[in-house]
Amino acid sequence: MSSSHCIAIALFCIAFLLGGISASHAQLSSTFYDATCPNVTNITRAVIENALLSDPRIGASLIRLHFHDCFVDGCDGSILLNNSDTIESEKEAALNNNSVRGFGVVDDIKTALESACPGIVSCADILAIAAEESVSLAEGPSWAVLLGRRDGTTANRTGADITLPSAVDTLDTLKEVFLAMGLNTTDLVSLSGAHTFGRARCVTFSDRLYDFNSTGNPDPTLNSTYLETLQGICPQDGNENVLANLDLTTPDTFDNNYFSNLQLENGLLQTDQELFSTTGADTIDIVNNFSSDQDAFFDSFVESMLKMGNIGVLTGSEGEVRLNCALVNADSSGSESFLHSSIETRDNAEDKYAI
Ligand code: HEM
Ligand SMILES: *[C@@H]1O[C@H](CO)[C@@H](O)[C@H](O)[C@H]1NC(C)=O
Ligand SMILES: *[C@@H]1O[C@H](CO)[C@@H](O)[C@H](O)[C@H]1NC(C)=O
Ligand SMILES: *[C@@H]1O[C@H](CO)[C@@H](O)[C@H](O)[C@H]1NC(C)=O
Ligand SMILES: *[C@@H]1O[C@H](CO)[C@@H](O)[C@H](O)[C@H]1NC(C)=O
Ligand SMILES: *[C@@H]1O[C@H](CO)[C@@H](O)[C@H](O)[C@H]1NC(C)=O
Ligand SMILES: *[C@@H]1O[C@H](CO)[C@@H](O)[C@H](O)[C@H]1NC(C)=O
Ligand SMILES: *[C@@H]1O[C@H](CO)[C@@H](O)[C@H](O)[C@H]1NC(C)=O
Ligand SMILES: *[C@@H]1O[C@H](CO)[C@@H](O)[C@H](O)[C@H]1NC(C)=O
Ligand SMILES: *[C@@H]1O[C@H](CO)[C@@H](O)[C@H](O)[C@H]1NC(C)=O
Repeated sequence: MSSSHCIAIALFCIAFLLGGISASHAQLSSTFYDATCPNVTNITRAVIENALLSDPRIGASLIRLHFHDCFVDGCDGSILLNNSDTIESEKEAALNNNSVRGFGVVDDIKTALESACPGIVSCADILAIAAEESVSLAEGPSWAVLLGRRDGTTANRTGADITLPSAVDTLDTLKEVFLAMGLNTTDLVSLSGAHTFGRARCVTFSDRLYDFNSTGNPDPTLNSTYLETLQGICPQDGNENVLANLDLTTPDTFDNNYFSNLQLENGLLQTDQELFSTTGADTIDIVNNFSSDQDAFFDSFVESMLKMGNIGVLTGSEGEVRLNCALVNADSSGSESFLHSSIETRDNAEDKYAI
């Protein structure tokens, strides 16, 4: 090979690598849809407001979808994909199956957005906006969501089994799991504050009521009054799908009571109470801070949500904008066929959802 060939190939490779790097590091932006779908937030909010009328839990379910999306191969909408010949869905991963919910409302948001701005808003961004609007509608903070994520074309059920935290993890394990996502101990505590609303099934905490950590006794860090209440809700060998509020004081409001609950040993999940009751832990001061100062919690929560929403995002020409959040696009290889299929889908959607 001549030296000029070598140089040409090397330059090509460098250009390719730089292009690859800059594409994968493209920044999300709060103004991403300003020109192409200016009303995206209002449309999303309106669908959630309507859903809340019959399902006061839905906001909690939606923010959890964003969290479980971001922790598995990044915030790429992969959690929304159904099983197919090529997809082994994350929905059915051990910690998601019969647990994560809200897919119908995500589909409703997508339908409304496809009708207003067809083929524009990604499903990954829908989850990020829905998370923020859900918190805001529950009296929590509002913030400028960073947008421009593209949707992935694969799911990773094994990845979900490996990387999602479990409610019986120790505090050390929780810290490791979050650190692997670029989230520090303050992020772990602030994001755990999302358990200020929503529900959990008995199966996720009932060992604490009867046989904590194979000791044959209840969890010693569980308030005895709360223990009795929870034993009433979740009798031994009862239905493990019965629900309890994650926040016993204000179950549907996004506030800092989650943290004052922990100070009274009224955390529902083992992983909640560990943040305050692990001897000598650096998380105790953070819990005390957020419990005494709701603004400090809200500020920290927003900062941590922005960090979480940035995990492993696809941008630019990576991935695609899915037309149906449960399905990879049939053909995303060429812009012409993409446009064509987007128009067809819109027509179908209008037939199906005509009002
Ligand atoms: C720190 C590690 C975490 C663990 C171990 C954990 C575990 C759980 C478990 C076991 C449930 C109940 C699931 C069921 O009943 O099937 C739950 C619910 C929930 N989680 Fe987490 N979680 C964690 C962090 C987070 C984060 C970071 C967020 C969001 C920022 C979040 C938001 C929620 C919400 C809102 C619910 C209620 C969902 C509903 O009512 O549908 N969690 N979590
Ligand atoms: C969204 O709603 C807010 C308040 O309801 C309104 O002020 C704003 O103009 C709306 N945005 C658009 C683009 O319609
Ligand atoms: C934006 O969306 C809201 C909620 O769906 C709707 O009430 C409003 O009319 C829309 N505004 C524009 C400018 O389309
Ligand atoms: C995805 O799966 C859910 C649950 O099985 C189902 O209700 C939904 O219709 C499916 N969506 C598509 C587009 O196939
Ligand atoms: C998910 O749950 C359903 C209903 O309980 C069950 O039929 C299915 O086998 C579960 N999926 C996996 C992968 O375990
Ligand atoms: C699935 O997730 C696991 C755990 O994060 C990771 O090691 C693996 O590379 C992922 N697989 C794919 C195909 O993305
Ligand atoms: C559970 O028991 C194991 C073994 O005795 C111990 O290492 C671990 O710290 C205990 N976990 C909790 C949360 O107490
Ligand atoms: C248990 O919770 C109640 C309120 O629910 C509280 O008054 C009491 O101080 C708590 N006990 C402990 C040990 O924190
Ligand atoms: C409380 O949290 C806020 C926000 O994270 C932080 O700025 C402040 O330094 C913290 N205060 C203490 C006493 O830890
Ligand atoms: C943890 O991350 C937050 C942002 O979420 C940042 O403000 C804080 O300085 C970080 N803490 C440490 C110890 O790095």
